[in-house]
Amino acid sequence: MILVTGGAGFIGANFVLDWLAHHDEPVLNLDKLTYAGNLHNLDSLADDARHVFVHGDIGDRPLLEHLLAEHQPRAVVNFAAESHVDRSIHGPEDFIQTNVVGAFRLLEAVRQYWSALPATERGVFRFLHVSTDEVYGTLAPKAPAFTEAHNYEPNSPYSASKAASDHLVRAWHHTYGLPVLTTNCSNNYGPYHFPEKLIPLVIVNALAGKPLPIYGDGRQVRDWLYVRDHCSAIRRVLEAGKAGETYNVGGWNEQANIDIVRLICGLLDELRPRADGQSYSAQITHVQDRPGHDRRYAIDARKIERELGWKPQETFESGIAKTVQWYLEHPEWVAQVQSGAYREWLAKQYEAA
Ligand code: NAD
Ligand code: DAU
Repeated sequence: MILVTGGAGFIGANFVLDWLAHHDEPVLNLDKLTYAGNLHNLDSLADDARHVFVHGDIGDRPLLEHLLAEHQPRAVVNFAAESHVDRSIHGPEDFIQTNVVGAFRLLEAVRQYWSALPATERGVFRFLHVSTDEVYGTLAPKAPAFTEAHNYEPNSPYSASKAASDHLVRAWHHTYGLPVLTTNCSNNYGPYHFPEKLIPLVIVNALAGKPLPIYGDGRQVRDWLYVRDHCSAIRRVLEAGKAGETYNVGGWNEQANIDIVRLICGLLDELRPRADGQSYSAQITHVQDRPGHDRRYAIDARKIERELGWKPQETFESGIAKTVQWYLEHPEWVAQVQSGAYREWLAKQYEAA
């Protein structure tokens, strides 16, 4: 079996669903169920014995030791993290605790378990760390996209905490020989995306008749990848990646935020026209910029294509249309995640808007 951490979050849940759609190999899913973790993402696995859920923290070393000894996974895929840049600006502590201290404890527990495995199992064991393009910092408008050789220049508390975990993973390979793999991926979008992030926030706010907040001039660029393409990249890296290597994963799909928001408004205008006949784009509101806002991210994903034969399958047009449709078809999921804690976050983040 494989141990997946953070498998009740956006990408982790998509990964668990995708994994079990492609394999019969069971998944042990360890998740702390923070505000971002949602077991309803995995409702379709309720009667599936291949999925075992454990409520717990990657920073809980005794729990990790117990789980590793009991379930004997052949691989660990680490998604567990605090993931929202704006939250890291308001309160970095949780980011340090989970993304740095938690990653360290997980690495140590896994190292202890892995060192005691018989030689054949030790050789094929893998620890795959899921990371982000944000560790590379920001790009000038015409600068080449991030390769795996780009310097680490993280700019936010979130990206600094992820960069720290990447360095720990690298060091555990270099010093102890732990067979690690690291993936640095660009912005994901798709089903189960928590509506604090740009794309789901815009869909949900548009339908609720609320402002669509654009930070600053909205010309910041992100490289968007449909989440199931990220899942297939992780499966491929786990299957064929070379221990100790990192792989950049991206969609070859750079878009300015304002263009994304206008595109979503256009899709909603067709699929769920406003009662007053106006476009949803009338709800676009420019608000104060994010402090230290990175201007542009772009991934050069040639290494994973060249060495492992992976490339994204979804176009942005098809992926964003599927995503908007998913949110239209799942109002109960949206209502369920919009708990009191979610409303408190919106009030804190957008109070001046
Ligand atoms: P998310 O915030 O939606 O989910 C994170 C999950 O981790 C949640 O289920 C949460 O409950 C769990 N978690 C948090 N702290 C934990 C802890 N201490 N122990 C156990 N579980 C804990 O995040 P996401 O967007 O799904 O991102 C998953 C991973 O992918 C993160 O490591 C993130 O840095 C990385 N990543 C995300 C993106 C993106 O666009 N969302 C892009 C590249 C990389
Ligand atoms: O690049 C990968 C990263 O992508 C991941 O590592 C992070 O976990 C993930 O959250 C995401 O980070 P971003 O900061 O790029 O994503 P977010 O959806 O928060 O914002 C996308 C862009 O939209 C960014 O330039 C900020 C802007 N934005 C965001 C929000 C929430 C707005 O203009 N208005 C908003 O209300």
